[in-house]
Amino acid sequence: MPTPHISAPEGAFAPTVLLPGDPLRAKWIAESFLDAAELVTEVRNVFGYTGTWNGNPVSVMGTGMGVPSISIYATELITHYGCERLIRVGSCGALVESVGMRDIVIGAGASTDSAVNRTRFAGYDFAAIADWSLLRSTVAAAERGTASVHVGNILTSDLFYSPNGADMTTTAAGMGVLAVEMEAAGLYGVAAEHGAAALAICTVSDHLVHHEVLSTDDRQQSFSDMVEIALAGAFS
Ligand code: HPA
Repeated sequence: MPTPHISAPEGAFAPTVLLPGDPLRAKWIAESFLDAAELVTEVRNVFGYTGTWNGNPVSVMGTGMGVPSISIYATELITHYGCERLIRVGSCGALVESVGMRDIVIGAGASTDSAVNRTRFAGYDFAAIADWSLLRSTVAAAERGTASVHVGNILTSDLFYSPNGADMTTTAAGMGVLAVEMEAAGLYGVAAEHGAAALAICTVSDHLVHHEVLSTDDRQQSFSDMVEIALAGAFS
């Protein structure tokens, strides 16, 4: 049975789902990494595919940008389609000198200015954390390769264009937060609420200290390296 935002029939998704923000990245991942990938949903042009990777069933679906958008798709994937492991593969902005362009940042936890986790946690501060098993296997997969990998706290921000952006990123960096993006805390909150496992892996596409931005080619290459790590981590 479809949901308001996903038209796939029951059973169309694999237990493990990769979640890029951009639906066209989902298409690219399906075509570049999966065998026998089939399009299972395209409501609002948010494409979802299911195929296999090294014989393991896996799905990939776009989430759109921001906490509300990823929260809708993650909730429906878990509660309607029985998905068990949701892995965001995205981009982030580095907040500290020690994190470089093209590096990979894995969110052990996600701080946020979004109210969603307080709302679901009776007004208290919920520690939005990654699934330990996925985190461990993904860090191990990353360390087998050549990419520079950082594991720690990331900041999930509701405002890409913020009037207090500089204050917030300085405060976050001062507390050891490695990078900023816009979805992880929402994903971790949804997963906690519904008993699923979640992880956010991001490549650094821009640097808020050095004010650098990746070229389109570098962005594609580092995204590809990250997808390899995400799949190797999920199925090791
Ligand atoms: N801010 C928020 N989200 C992002 C950024 C950023 O600088 N870069 C990539 N995703």
